[in-house]
Amino acid sequence: RTAYVNGLYVRHSEAAVHIEDRGFQFADAVYEVCEIRHGFIVDLSRHLDRLERSLRELDMDLPMSRAALTLVIREVARRNRVRNGLFYLQISRGMARRDHVYPAADTPQTIVITAKSTDPAIVARKNAVGIKAITVAENRWDRVDIKTVGLLPNAMARQRAKEKGAQEAIYLDAEGMVKEGAATNIWMVDSDGTLLTRPAEHGILRGITRTTLIDIAAKLGIKIREEAFSLERMLGAREVFLTAATSICFPIVEIDGKTIANGHPGSVAQKIRDAFFEIAE
Ligand code: PDD
Repeated sequence: RTAYVNGLYVRHSEAAVHIEDRGFQFADAVYEVCEIRHGFIVDLSRHLDRLERSLRELDMDLPMSRAALTLVIREVARRNRVRNGLFYLQISRGMARRDHVYPAADTPQTIVITAKSTDPAIVARKNAVGIKAITVAENRWDRVDIKTVGLLPNAMARQRAKEKGAQEAIYLDAEGMVKEGAATNIWMVDSDGTLLTRPAEHGILRGITRTTLIDIAAKLGIKIREEAFSLERMLGAREVFLTAATSICFPIVEIDGKTIANGHPGSVAQKIRDAFFEIAE
C-alpha cells in the first residue's frame, strides 16, 4: 500500500509524521473521508468545500490548489488499486515546538492521504439486516461543525456501542433530542412518511451524504423536514437510518435494545439508497 505524505508517495508501512506535529499533540488538524465508487470520487467538490470551510474556521488555508489536491487523491487511489473504497485526507497545522498558541503562519502544514478498498459484501449485509445503535449523552465541544481529528469522545462512544453489541452510538442533547451518530447523521421516517433530520446549524456536522440525500429526497418526491426529534419519537418511527460517506443509508433496526417498527430495514431507506447509487454513477 502507498500513502501520500507532504509531497511524497511512500510505502504505507513507513509513512510517518513528526512527533511534534500539532495534529498529534493538539488534534490541531482537519480531515475528510470520501467514497470512491467504480473509480469515481463521490461528491468530491462538496467534500473539498467542507474541507476549506473547516480550515477557514481554524485560520488555515488549503496547502495546495483544489486541482492539485484532486490529482494527488486520484493518484493515491490508483496506486492502491482502489475502485470501490474510501480515501482519507488529513491536514494539520504542521510541526512546531509544543506551544498552545498557533505557530507562524508560514509553518508548512502536514498533509496525509491514504486510500483503501471496502468489501461490498459487508455493506450489502448491513443494508439487508440493519444495524443496532445505542444512545449516549453529548459530551463533545460545541464546534463539531468543524471536521477536526479531535475524535476521542466519538471513539469512546463507538467503543461503548461495540461493548453493547451495537455498531453506532447516537448523541442526545440535554433536552433528549437526537443530534447525530459518532460518525454519521441520523434520520427517521415519521408515521405520515415524512423524512426528518436535525437542522445542521445546531451542534452537528453537516454531512455531505446528508446534503446529497436532501437533494435526492426532493427528486423522489419524498417529504422532508429539517427538524429536531426526541428519542421517544425516534423509537416510535416507521424507519430509522444513518448516513455517512462510509455508510450510505444504513437501516437502524434496534436502539437501546428496543426494536424499531417491525425490526426489519424499511422501504424508504432502500428507495433512497437505490436512487443515490444511480445518481452517483
Ligand atoms: N464521519 N457526523 C459525524 C460526527 C461524522 O464524523 C460524519 C462522517 C458524519 C457524516 O458526514 P459525511 O456524510 O460527510 O460522511 C456526520 C466520517 C465518515 C468518519 O469520521 O469516518
